[in-house]
Amino acid sequence: MELSNLRLEVMKFVGQKIDYFFDEFLKPIETNWQPSDFLPDATNENFFQEVKLIQENARELPYDYIAVLIGDTITEEALPTYESWLVDVVGIDQVDEPNGWAKWVRGWTAEENRHGDLLNKFLYLSGRVNMRAMETSTQYLIADGFDIGTGRDPYRNFVYTSFQELATNISHRRTATLAKKYNNNLLSKMCGVIASDEMRHAKAYKTFISNIFEVDPSEMMLAFEDMMKKKIVMPAHFLRESGVKIGQTFSHFSDAAQRLGVYTTIDYIEIMESLLDEWKISGITNLNDAGERARDYLMALPNRLRRVAERTKVPTLEYEFSWIAS
Ligand SMILES: [Fe+2]
Ligand SMILES: [Fe+2]
Repeated sequence: MELSNLRLEVMKFVGQKIDYFFDEFLKPIETNWQPSDFLPDATNENFFQEVKLIQENARELPYDYIAVLIGDTITEEALPTYESWLVDVVGIDQVDEPNGWAKWVRGWTAEENRHGDLLNKFLYLSGRVNMRAMETSTQYLIADGFDIGTGRDPYRNFVYTSFQELATNISHRRTATLAKKYNNNLLSKMCGVIASDEMRHAKAYKTFISNIFEVDPSEMMLAFEDMMKKKIVMPAHFLRESGVKIGQTFSHFSDAAQRLGVYTTIDYIEIMESLLDEWKISGITNLNDAGERARDYLMALPNRLRRVAERTKVPTLEYEFSWIAS
């Protein structure tokens, strides 16, 4: 059987549970939080006072922190890239099967859309941001797309999304904790609710992979190995500013996140370990020879990465982002 036909069959089989996944890992729209639950209401006469308070509290936020928050926001705002990528994956068909996997992708997108919306409005009101520079970066990032090495393979894509949802959970959780440290309770709450969405989404994608491991273990193992060999790139890896080369702003953003401890190479390794654990990789034995080699490679990887991480230094130099108002 051709590879993609087998993938298609597995996706059909696991996709029988779409309604269950939908109810288990997404929240009903009517009771879900919306960005306006956290932001000043412009129809209210206290609006300007509340905005003033947001601006006063935002003055305390350090430079790197604002830069990371902007990078996080732009990453969330590039959601069109992620949704259009996912609907193109083998087994996801919005025309012929709108209530199959495509329904999951729509529901997930609908929840994710609130993240960039909330952060963007907050940053706009904060008075700390050169909005035009930030918006230009967002337009660039969506126009540039991304290159995540998954192809149209559902196995590789769900490894990627499992990893990414965990990574965004960590970074939003850390920006929430730091906001509290800077006495910004509103911002802390905002980052906290986004982080918990990311965790629910991570659980969903991890469950998809667990289900695939049950029916196609060797191919699933090889796909996982392939993604980890290539390294998981961040969705905003092409991030740039006006007049800056593609991807260059991303490395400054990622340096700032490392300096702040919002997302580090150690986090990457710990996510990897948590996935090995979650999918009980060491105990999977019904594999072909290539699958067994892939499993052994994966089990040995965290220690290898730790040795590399010990040798890498975090750049201490602060970069001047065009996004931040002087
Ligand atoms: Fe998100
Ligand atoms: Fe997410």
